[in-house]
Amino acid sequence: MIGKKMEVALNEQINAELYSSYLYLSMSAYLESLNLRGFAHWMRVQAREEEGHALKIYDHIIERGGRVTLGAVEAPPTEWDSPLAVFEQVASHEQKVTGLINELVDLATSENDHATRSFLQWFVDEQVEEEDSANQVLEKFRLVAAAPGGLFMIDRELAERK
Ligand code: FEO
Repeated sequence: MIGKKMEVALNEQINAELYSSYLYLSMSAYLESLNLRGFAHWMRVQAREEEGHALKIYDHIIERGGRVTLGAVEAPPTEWDSPLAVFEQVASHEQKVTGLINELVDLATSENDHATRSFLQWFVDEQVEEEDSANQVLEKFRLVAAAPGGLFMIDRELAERK
């Protein structure tokens, strides 16, 4: 059976993951409005992944005999200055999420909740990937900064994301 403190913290993380999903979907809508369909596709896949993260935690709470309680999800921003600004926010948002996951691991450790600590290892590893994929897109922006049509080259590439 999961402890109360851990249950509350994991429910908060469900909310944070759903917010991430909502944020990325809002970014996708913004990118659609610029007709950057590849960028928008990439971000929509990202939004779906975040929903998957929320459900993974949801299932863990239930498997451990806890109670899932869903709260209000904050409204995301709807406008950005540029596609680059969007990806800069993705990178900083993922760093923030990594911090939240690390705090959950610390709590699982101090609560002697070995099952949750083991469960969270997947998220620790996932965050390495999440930060890396945001940084990879930022790197592409840097590479094509001076090239005419560079934005459309990235757009074509991001359209390939599965
Ligand atoms: Fe669920 Fe992007 O971390």
